[in-house]
Amino acid sequence: MKQADHNVPVIAIDGPGGSGKGTIAALLAERLGWRLLDSGALYRLVAVAAMDRGIAADDEAALGSLAAGLDVEFAVADHGMVVWLDGRDITSRLRSEEVSAFSSRAAALPAVRAALVHLQRGFLRPPGLVADGRDMGTVIFPDARLKIFLTASAEARAKRRHKQLKEKGESVNLSRLFREIKKRDDRDRSRAVSPLMAAPDAHLIDSTELSIDEVLQKILKLLEESRASL
Ligand code: C5P
Repeated sequence: MKQADHNVPVIAIDGPGGSGKGTIAALLAERLGWRLLDSGALYRLVAVAAMDRGIAADDEAALGSLAAGLDVEFAVADHGMVVWLDGRDITSRLRSEEVSAFSSRAAALPAVRAALVHLQRGFLRPPGLVADGRDMGTVIFPDARLKIFLTASAEARAKRRHKQLKEKGESVNLSRLFREIKKRDDRDRSRAVSPLMAAPDAHLIDSTELSIDEVLQKILKLLEESRASL
């Protein structure tokens, strides 16, 4: 399956949770004045909608049709992204650990992934798109101008996530978080459809020892180089 519009540039940023993708993608989109696709939020929305309806995380048929008919709206507010599902603001629920675990299980189901392809490609509009996820460079936008695979050690990712949750007032045990992150990583990497992996033409960046700004500068430099080689 090919992506829709070859003329609109895409920066695909893939990698495991906690690698800093979300923050970096949002900053890049803002800097460039491009649109942003947080594809993980779509899988999280499927999870929230399913949990509200009492649908199990392994009910592929029900989750597939739920994903195909998602009634979602995104808006950018001063304090970040606001997400509505079925007309209700569910932003505060999106990043909970419960939703993380459910979304990672639902994301392994082919029917769910297939249902979200069209919705994701619909984000592609001029002047450009920064797309953050697990399969942006491999499946959703194979013709992306620039592909980044952002990683960090599991310890660093667990610590970052712990800090994030603490700031939101959620108390989570760090070693439990570490185990959960490893579990989700394994599931994302080993699933049969669209597993988490770097595209052959992706640039690998390890953010364990880098600041957000250092990662951002690296990507902007790669973008410049890709423009120069057009
Ligand atoms: O990136 P985020 O942690 O918000 O994603 C939530 C879950 O959705 C991940 O654990 C992953 O399993 C899944 N996901 C995916 N493909 C994407 C984005 C997210 O499978 N492109």
